[in-house]
Amino acid sequence: MIAEKKLKIAVAGKGGVGKTTIAGTLARLFARDGHSVIAVDADPAMNLKFALGINKNPTPVSELKDLIFERTGAYTGTGIYKLNPKVDDIIEGYGAKGPDGVTLLVMGTIEKGGSGCTCPENAFLRSLLRHILFKKNMVIMDMEAGIEHLGRGTAKGVDLMLTVVEPGMRSVETVGRIKKLGEDIGINNITAVINKVTDSEMVKKVEIKLAEMNIPLLEIIPYEQSLIKADMEGKAPLDIGGEPEAVEHIKRIKEKILSFANALVSLP
Ligand SMILES: Nc1ncnc2c1ncn2[C@@H]1O[C@H](COP(=O)(O)OP(=O)(O)O)[C@@H](O)[C@H]1O
Ligand SMILES: [Mg+2]
Repeated sequence: MIAEKKLKIAVAGKGGVGKTTIAGTLARLFARDGHSVIAVDADPAMNLKFALGINKNPTPVSELKDLIFERTGAYTGTGIYKLNPKVDDIIEGYGAKGPDGVTLLVMGTIEKGGSGCTCPENAFLRSLLRHILFKKNMVIMDMEAGIEHLGRGTAKGVDLMLTVVEPGMRSVETVGRIKKLGEDIGINNITAVINKVTDSEMVKKVEIKLAEMNIPLLEIIPYEQSLIKADMEGKAPLDIGGEPEAVEHIKRIKEKILSFANALVSLP
């Protein structure tokens, strides 16, 4: 049997394009295939749980103030803190198991500005992300609109940046920016999915733009009312019954990602 690459996938794109919907559904589909999947909610909006079918978020890691201060040694008040705090027990302790066996970890938000320095919190979350990205699990990260908080150290661990666009040029521009940021920090595998499609003319324009930017198109997902309904009911697309067509397309994305992974493994 060939070695199996445990893929680390970051899902990015403009707000509202369908990142969370796709990330959550992909995570469960991979888990159904027997992969041990960690779904990381890295968006301050913290709504990946819905797409996974989990009712309640586990405690966001950013809220573990005492633990963060203890682990980073920041409580001494000297302004000195560890850049590599212990993080290897966090997933076990603060991850939530969801349907199909996916583990959800919520990063949470770090307040910016004000008077206090949030450096220990940042150092802790960065360490945790690094740890997760080098673990022997499949990882799907639901990002916020940009990828600014991925640093060089974490970017090394990302195998694939899956971007989502919707018909219209604004989300395509966002993906152009993400591609550039990604390349700056060493993420070179970027692909795109076009979501919420109602009109084939519009899709053609987006396809041309993506081709110009050298971003391979993985799949086109139609606009589907049942996904809005699922969202209104706080349900995962996989739990609304009567498989939505979009799920079929996300299954295809999964297959294409797996072929991509096999190509990575067979490289010398
Ligand atoms: N293919 C689709 N058809 C219709 N609605 C969709 C589709 N994909 C996502 N949505 C809806 O769009 C909204 C935003 O999706 P979400 O996944 O939260 O986007 P993001 O994470 O990029 O902000 C949600 O109401 C979701 O149900
Ligand atoms: Mg989202």
